[in-house]
Amino acid sequence: MTSDRVAFVAGATGYTGRAVVQLLTKSGLRCIAHVRPDSSRLDEWRARFGGAGAELCTAPWTGPEMGEAIRDLGVTEVYSLTGTTNKRARSLGKAGGDAASASHEAVDYGLTKHLVDASLAAGTAPFFVYLSSLGADADSRNSYLRARGRAEDAVAGSGLPFCAVRASFVTGPDRGESRPTERVGAVVTDGLLAVAAALGGKRLKARYGSVDAERLAAVLVSLPRDEAHRGRVVTLDEVLP
Ligand SMILES: NC(=O)c1ccc[n+]([C@@H]2O[C@H](COP(=O)([O-])OP(=O)(O)OC[C@H]3O[C@@H](n4cnc5c(N)ncnc54)[C@H](OP(=O)(O)O)[C@@H]3O)[C@@H](O)[C@H]2O)c1
Repeated sequence: MTSDRVAFVAGATGYTGRAVVQLLTKSGLRCIAHVRPDSSRLDEWRARFGGAGAELCTAPWTGPEMGEAIRDLGVTEVYSLTGTTNKRARSLGKAGGDAASASHEAVDYGLTKHLVDASLAAGTAPFFVYLSSLGADADSRNSYLRARGRAEDAVAGSGLPFCAVRASFVTGPDRGESRPTERVGAVVTDGLLAVAAALGGKRLKARYGSVDAERLAAVLVSLPRDEAHRGRVVTLDEVLP
């Protein structure tokens, strides 16, 4: 199956990104998996994504190259799936690195803003799919939710065709990285929501419950063709089948 859609996936190496690349390639789309040029696992990602039928792009997260790549590759849809955690920033700092470069401000907001600017600079108005978080709010006192809210505002104010999806817990047994707090939070929340669903609260479960990468990827890749949700910030209960 071939398609005239060309996808650019930023955050391709993450839990959600890997599933999105896999689904896009399986569906016959031309898929560009973006990996940061300084990744210590570049050869591994090249082999893995190449084996799946995707192309690798290593444009830096600064300067004009990312926009040029989006333009030159004829990208029609951009997936913004990067993100960091406080734990990552702390461990980078402890290892002597620049903890600020892994902060919510630098990654959750900064990389999204760069990707929005690159998509605009391409001049081809690709559809922008943004994976956000429940509670995102540019005025929040919580640095993660504030960065997510500012990123949503950058996407929504860009003039690009877009859809932003607010998820709760993105996790599943197949998540490689150990995130015990998140897993426990998801299991406890899912348990409470199963009770609510049995009492008629199915939307509550879809909105606040956890979602695994495969199910989430299916929603995300449907958005560029989903007229009903174009130009909107939605919660998962609105878009999960
Ligand atoms: N996990 C959740 O429960 C949850 C809930 C709601 C929303 N979200 C949001 O959904 C998105 C995807 O989540 P996920 O769990 O799939 O993410 P993930 O597995 O943690 O992957 C994060 C991605 O961001 C990239 N990244 C992180 N720091 C970077 C940096 N400084 N420079 C360049 N790339 C960097 C990573 O690249 P490397 O592999 O090279 O580090 C990786 O591709 C995130 O934005 C997250 O905030 C997550």
